[in-house]
Amino acid sequence: MCSCLSGIPALYESFRQIFNPESSKGSPNAHEAYYNRFIQPKKPIRVAITGVAGQIGYALLPMIANGDMFGPDQEVIIQGVDLPIDQVKENLKGINMELEDGYYPLLKRVIFTTDPNVAFKDADVGILLGAFPRKQGMERKDLMEKNISIFKQMGSAIEANASKDCKILVVGNPANTNCLVCSTYAPSIPKANFSALTRLDHNRARGQVALKAGVNLERVKNVIIWGNHSSTQYPDVCHGQIDGKPVESVLAGDKAWLKGPFIEMIQKRGAAIINARKASSALSAARAITNHIHDWIVGSAPGEWVSMAVHTDGTDGYGIEKGLMYSFPVVCKGNGSWDIVKGLPIDGFSRDKMKATESELIEERELAMEIVKN
Ligand SMILES: NC(=O)c1ccc[n+]([C@@H]2O[C@H](COP(=O)([O-])OP(=O)(O)OC[C@H]3O[C@@H](n4cnc5c(N)ncnc54)[C@H](O)[C@@H]3O)[C@@H](O)[C@H]2O)c1
Repeated sequence: MCSCLSGIPALYESFRQIFNPESSKGSPNAHEAYYNRFIQPKKPIRVAITGVAGQIGYALLPMIANGDMFGPDQEVIIQGVDLPIDQVKENLKGINMELEDGYYPLLKRVIFTTDPNVAFKDADVGILLGAFPRKQGMERKDLMEKNISIFKQMGSAIEANASKDCKILVVGNPANTNCLVCSTYAPSIPKANFSALTRLDHNRARGQVALKAGVNLERVKNVIIWGNHSSTQYPDVCHGQIDGKPVESVLAGDKAWLKGPFIEMIQKRGAAIINARKASSALSAARAITNHIHDWIVGSAPGEWVSMAVHTDGTDGYGIEKGLMYSFPVVCKGNGSWDIVKGLPIDGFSRDKMKATESELIEERELAMEIVKN
């Protein structure tokens, strides 16, 4: 054994001698590649979070620090940004103390800042929670204007600072169009690296079908959320399965529910939670964000698809307008890439609903682009 090796490389060399002595005949680069791939500890993942002091941020931070998002052997560095307001800064001090006290061995470092350029520095993943909330009596155009200025700023900070392979998830509403705006201001990052959150709607649909059928959640697979994360979204169970059988045959007695009240319940679930809690969903949103990023980076479960709002380029196979952020069933391949599930048969009922949510996204895009131009 080479005397210059010590520590982990030496350990690797001993394994190689025992299990694969032939490999010493190959180039030294092959050893190095093996060492880099399997032995070397992973580099910590830098996760930038905007609006980190809000209620989703508070629910999300422990999930990231605990390894739920990237796995139990992956260290993380959290780089959070929020507004330069005294109360927010004080809140972040407290959250920082809680993270220090929370015993999170995977949490290498926490940076809380009011500067998006600092938060996105070398970021591998960006989670964009911070957005302007709709206030009573506010026009859609005014809301859009406020959000465009936020997502323009975030897009520019991503462009200037983030890793060129950074994966960006937009959660702040209107999530799909905010995501589109953000991607416009980060032109050097591939469009496929941007997505908006519809996993919460996906999880809701899956959960309600499981409850109706009286089965455990994991037995329900392949529901779909099409379109916008709004009340026009189309929660579709036509291709869903319970224990491998079509949802519509297992719930044959509930066809009317599946085509009516179920769809409406998922579309309006966010509003129902606000009514009950007097605050929007945070725990379930944080969980859905964790699921979304986990599957995007690590891979979706074999034989299953998930819902993600992704950029349309006219090749989705369902005739959706080019250049939107539209939610589709996707399979994540585990290397940070995804493919839209193609070729699902679409009946007239589904087609109408997919078109209605597409129309809303086209309108939102037109409004956004008009504001951007002025
Ligand atoms: N897509 C989804 O499924 C989904 C689900 C739930 C909530 N949401 C949306 O997620 C967003 C966050 O929800 P929340 O409950 O955490 O809201 P929240 O109001 O509790 O927190 C938002 C945080 O963003 C910060 N913020 C606002 N503008 C900012 C800016 N320009 N830069 C940095 N920080 C900024 C605020 O100071 C606040 O701390 C909302 O827009 C909400 O509607 C989306």
